[in-house]
Amino acid sequence: MSTPIRAGIVGATGYTGFELVRLLSAHPHVELAFAVSRRDAGKSLGELYPTPLDVPLQAPDEVDPRSADVLFLCLPHGTAQEWTRRGLEAGAVVIDLSADHRLRDPATYRRWYGLEHAAPHLLSEAVYGLTEWNREALRSARLIANPGCYPTSILLALGPLLKTGLLEEATVIADSKSGVSGAGRSPKVSSLFVEVNENLKPYNIGHLHRHVAEIEQEFAVLGGSRAPANLIFSPHLLPVSRGILSTIYVPWPVGWQEGALRALYAETYAHEPFIWLLPPGQTATLAHTVHTNRCAISLHPVPDQGQLIIVSTIDNLVKGAAGQAVQNMNVRFGLDETAGLT
Ligand SMILES: NC(=O)c1ccc[n+]([C@@H]2O[C@H](COP(=O)([O-])OP(=O)(O)OC[C@H]3O[C@@H](n4cnc5c(N)ncnc54)[C@H](OP(=O)(O)O)[C@@H]3O)[C@@H](O)[C@H]2O)c1
Repeated sequence: MSTPIRAGIVGATGYTGFELVRLLSAHPHVELAFAVSRRDAGKSLGELYPTPLDVPLQAPDEVDPRSADVLFLCLPHGTAQEWTRRGLEAGAVVIDLSADHRLRDPATYRRWYGLEHAAPHLLSEAVYGLTEWNREALRSARLIANPGCYPTSILLALGPLLKTGLLEEATVIADSKSGVSGAGRSPKVSSLFVEVNENLKPYNIGHLHRHVAEIEQEFAVLGGSRAPANLIFSPHLLPVSRGILSTIYVPWPVGWQEGALRALYAETYAHEPFIWLLPPGQTATLAHTVHTNRCAISLHPVPDQGQLIIVSTIDNLVKGAAGQAVQNMNVRFGLDETAGLT
């Protein structure tokens, strides 16, 4: 058997960090080098989560990044930059689950996150880890910017149209719902049971959510000179623990028939192990994807009204975070892309 890949996880006590510990502990080619927590160093993960995984938590200055081949950063944005520097200097591949390396332009990062980036030169180097669309660049990446959860659901749903130039000058309307784990484990009033239960709450609707910047950036990458003109993005907080469902409205591509559009999607995603294209008559739901690394996509043509509606679902903690990070690690280290994920 080949030498296992040594993985370090920073922010292991958060929702994405714990999901990573779970996935990597069952991964056939990985051994956990360390799991870092500031607040809970000295404890075991089993003291925080109902899990038999007896993973010791270590303080940030107790671990040596050189003992990891790959470093996963499950930290709030702004706090991942220092660990990125430490990881890269130690020669590890860094996979950053935060937003710190997703935007290529430091001014855009400053505008949307209100922070000056500590290492702007890394923004142009980081490879955006939407695996299905960036596989080749990922194979040699030193720094992988794992995509946001909402952008993953929207970009995978629109990829075939963007790549074919069918959204040129379009207005894209993405109406998305996320489970509460999307907000992380730190206590906040807006995530309290009584605020969330039996409620459905839109927030930052229009063109306000930080993921707008990331989605628009990737529209331009995938669509090139034929990218959409406008994005309306309306996220909602859904009273479930996990899962994202995006209902996306785009103009019906002029001159296209339903069969040709379905064929475009089928051909594009024919060999993708984690894209689940549903047949006509079926609709993607959260149940299609929660606790999996899949993205389920269903197409709903309304040509008489000049619209194509696409529904896409993922698990925000898996394909929207930890699962996609493992998928990216698999690609980067030349493993079977599905290892540890099926
Ligand atoms: N939740 C999702 O669905 C999702 C999806 C995609 C991407 N993301 C992104 O992934 C990152 C982690 O998300 P998460 O949901 O796992 O967050 P979380 O549950 O709030 O966990 C964050 C972890 O970071 C650690 N941490 C280290 N420095 C910190 C600091 N200065 N302030 C607060 N926490 C600090 C915390 O543990 P210690 O304090 O013990 O060190 C905590 O365990 C975020 O950037 C998030 O935007 C999240």
